Amino acid sequence: MDTAQIAPGTDFVWPSEDVSQIPFRVYTDQDLYDREQRVLFQGPTWNFLCLDCEIPEPGDYKMTYIGDAPIVVVRDENGDINAMVNRCAHKGSLICYKPRGNVKEFACIYHNWTYNLRGKLTGVAFGKGVRGKGGLTEEFKHDEHGLERIRVENVRGFIMGTFSDETPPFAEYIGEELMASIDRVFIKPLKVLGYHSQIFPNNWKLYVENNKDSYHASLLHVFHNTFGVVRPTMTGGIKLSKSGWHHLSYTQREEIGDENIAKENLRSKQDDYALSDTRMMQHVLELGDQVTNSIQTVFPTMVLQQILNAIAVRQLIPKGVHESELIWTILGFEDDDADMDELRLQVNNLVGPAGFISMEDGCVGGFIQTAAKANGDAQTILPMGGRKIEPSVGSRVTESAVRGFWKGWRECMGV
Ligand code: FES
Ligand SMILES: [Fe+2]
Repeated sequence: MDTAQIAPGTDFVWPSEDVSQIPFRVYTDQDLYDREQRVLFQGPTWNFLCLDCEIPEPGDYKMTYIGDAPIVVVRDENGDINAMVNRCAHKGSLICYKPRGNVKEFACIYHNWTYNLRGKLTGVAFGKGVRGKGGLTEEFKHDEHGLERIRVENVRGFIMGTFSDETPPFAEYIGEELMASIDRVFIKPLKVLGYHSQIFPNNWKLYVENNKDSYHASLLHVFHNTFGVVRPTMTGGIKLSKSGWHHLSYTQREEIGDENIAKENLRSKQDDYALSDTRMMQHVLELGDQVTNSIQTVFPTMVLQQILNAIAVRQLIPKGVHESELIWTILGFEDDDADMDELRLQVNNLVGPAGFISMEDGCVGGFIQTAAKANGDAQTILPMGGRKIEPSVGSRVTESAVRGFWKGWRECMGV
C-alpha cells in the first residue's frame, strides 16, 4: 500500500505505512465524512437497497439509502426493479416520502412534476403556461431531466445498488469464495419476518469494524461464554476476499449428532443460573453443514447473518459524523411453515438491539466516539494477528478483517 498522501479535498494524511494504526480523526472529521459520501458510497461499491420480496408487485416501492443519499427502489410494469436517487430534477425535493407504498407514477408534491417507474420525467405542471403565458421554453427537453438512475443487481433476492459504472459485477466484487458463502445460506426465495432499527451514537465505521472484529465476540458478549453459544468444541475461522474489503467469520461444531444445543440444558459455568426457556438455542440443521455462526460483511455497510436458524440482513446508514442507524431485516424462507417462522423469531432473541449476544455492540461504538472527539490525533492499534490482511483457519483471534476494511477505505478515499 502506498505511503501517506493527502486525501483530495481535505488536509487529512494517513499517518502510517499500513493499516494497523487508525487515527481517531477518521471517526470525527466532517471533511472526511463528506468525501466518503462522494467517493466511497457513491463510488465503486455495492450497497444493499432492499429485498426483492419487499416489492413484489408492479408499482411497489421502498425508500432506502446509499450512504446518506436517499434512494427509491421500485418495481415497474415489466417486473423489472429500478432504483433512482429520491430527488426531484426540478428543485430537489424528495419525490417519495413515505417509507413504502404502491404508485402508478411518482408525483413530486412541491410543483407536481411527474416521473414514471423508470424515473423518466413525464409531466411538468403548467409546462405550457396559463392562458398562453409563462411555462417552459422550447429549449427544455423532458428527456434530459429524469431522476438519476442507480445501477442495480438482484443477488439471491438482495437488491444491490451502485452509483458507479466502474463497479465490477457483484460476484466479482466479493469474489468466488464469499459468493459461495452467500449461496450456502440463502438457498431459497426469502420472506421478511420483521424489522428492528437502532441508532448508534457513533460514526458508521465503528460499527463496520465491530462486525469484522471476531476478537471481541467471546469477551464483550458474556452470554456467549455463559451459555456456550460459542464453545471450545467448535472450530471456526475468517475468510477474506482477495481485495481484503469483504469478510466472513464462522464457527462450526465438530461433533457429529450434536444437533440441538438446547438439549444440553444450558447452564452457566458458575452453575448458579440456567436458561429456563431454551427455545432460542434450538437449531434445525437445514443448510447441510454444522456451521452455527456465519457473519459476512460486504464492503462498505452490508452484513449477512446466520446464527443457528436466525438469518438476517443488516443495513448500516450513516447519519452524520457522530451517528449511524442500523436496520435489521429478519428473514425466513418463503416456504417455511408457521413452526419454522416461530423458531427463527425465537432464535432472533440472540440478536437485534436488545439481543442477548449483540446488545453490547450498541454501546461500545459510543464509548470509542467519546474518546475520539477528545483527541483526533491519537490512534487505535490493531495488533491481533500481526499486520497482514489474510484469512485465518482455526482461529478468530485476529484483526485481519478490520485491517482489510481500512485497506478498502484508503483505496476508495485515495489516501
Ligand atoms: S421540486 Fe419537485 S416539482 Fe418542484
Ligand atoms: Fe459483537
